Amino acid sequence: MADLNVVILAAGKGTRMKSDKPKVLHTLGGLPMLQRVINTAEKLNPSMVVVVTGFGAQQVQQTVFCNNLQFVMQEQQLGTGHAVLQALPLLPQEGITLILSGDVPLVQAQDLAALTDACAGKVLAVMTVEVGDPFGYGRIVRDAQQHISGIVEQRDATAEQQKICEVNTGIMAVPTAALRRWLPELKCENAQNEYYLTDIVSKAVKEELSVVAHKVKSPMQVAGVNSPMQLATLEREYQNTLAHDLMKQGVRLADPARLDIRGNLQCAQDVEIDVNCVFYGDVILGPRVRIGPHCVIANVKIDADVCIEAFTHIDGQGVGVEVGSGVHIGPYARLRPGVKLERDVHVGNFVEIKNSKLAQGSKANHLSYVGDATIGSQVNIGAGTITANYDGVNKYPTVIGDETRIGSNSVLVAPVTIGARGTIGAGSVVTRDTPENSLTLTRAEQKSIVGWKRPEKSGRGKTQ
Ligand code: UD1
Ligand code: CA
Repeated sequence: MADLNVVILAAGKGTRMKSDKPKVLHTLGGLPMLQRVINTAEKLNPSMVVVVTGFGAQQVQQTVFCNNLQFVMQEQQLGTGHAVLQALPLLPQEGITLILSGDVPLVQAQDLAALTDACAGKVLAVMTVEVGDPFGYGRIVRDAQQHISGIVEQRDATAEQQKICEVNTGIMAVPTAALRRWLPELKCENAQNEYYLTDIVSKAVKEELSVVAHKVKSPMQVAGVNSPMQLATLEREYQNTLAHDLMKQGVRLADPARLDIRGNLQCAQDVEIDVNCVFYGDVILGPRVRIGPHCVIANVKIDADVCIEAFTHIDGQGVGVEVGSGVHIGPYARLRPGVKLERDVHVGNFVEIKNSKLAQGSKANHLSYVGDATIGSQVNIGAGTITANYDGVNKYPTVIGDETRIGSNSVLVAPVTIGARGTIGAGSVVTRDTPENSLTLTRAEQKSIVGWKRPEKSGRGKTQ
């Protein structure tokens, strides 16, 4: 296989996005469009990827990454041919140059591979597609033998040419040696006074170098993004593909149109996902996991038979979250980074847990904050329990022994250790370690004043 180098055009401002952010950094499926294109290109193992930047160049350079990545600056956007010309000094003498657009995010690696195979370092290979409405695209002009004779842009096309529905996707694989001859010779004598990359087709024809098309089947896979509407359309297309892949594996989605995956979601057998769930980062769902409606789930590994009820928010960003088998979470629970729930733990409504471990069978069912805590097995954390882990400057740990019961509305002021099989009376503020097998209470004793008179409104009886 000839040496492959990739050039990605990403200099355009994307005026119709009406955004300060460079167009190619707007995200699709949680990744900047340009990063998606880079990741797809990387599957072909290129020697180098060159990104042509312009508008927001610095921001683009700081955001995207891959092996052997280079950037070149196109100061003025004088056309697609001029853009590729900027990359020329970095390219080798021979091999294949694959030219991509940073704003065509759904292009498939297999189509790029077919295109570079067709090029083989000898032939100019153009990726084309048949569209219902070709307005705005460069038309693929063919001769009587159906060989490609040129690409003509919308504004330069004759009425007859405008009827052609096979269009240029902007993606080409070019013999690098030929690209080196052609690019410096491009002229901007056309309706837009731009240096058109597409003019290399007629140069190839003139040199009797063959031009072939790789025609893709789905226009969506080669569609460009110029506006928020087009971005949303491609986002739905992408999500629809992911949803259908999951369903083919057996995942039961209540509604494939109401699922968003902005990272990688891996599902084992018999997973069920209700409507309006959003997944970020790396999420692994074990067998028979059920996720209720309206959950946000990120960076977590969930074992078998876990049930997550509606409106739960889990985000393990950085260190992750681990959920053991048979765990029950929610509704309305929040798990933050560094949480480890062992099997059969229950976490109920309005419970927030951060950087804590709950061992087997422990429960925090209502209205609690658990942070920086190590909790043994079969512990019951009563409603309204707070681990006060922060003195305003430093964070401290709480340790709770096995089979302990923490009464409702207790505050455990860290650093503190609650001895195993202990009981903490409701409403206690615990500031010192407690012994095993003991009852600890810190609340004032209850007293009642019998015969106490309630205050009454002064001037009572006088009606207005
Ligand atoms: C281009 C093609 C057209 C094709 C269409 C597909 C040319 C002359 N025309 O037209 O045949 O049907 O794409 O979408 O190639 N860019 C730069 N620098 C520039 C100009 C453009 O980096 O100076 C980048 C843009 O940011 C964009 C890509 O190149 O990512 C395509 O440019 P765009 O202006 O959208 O080209 P079209 O006129 O749509
Ligand atoms: Ca375009």
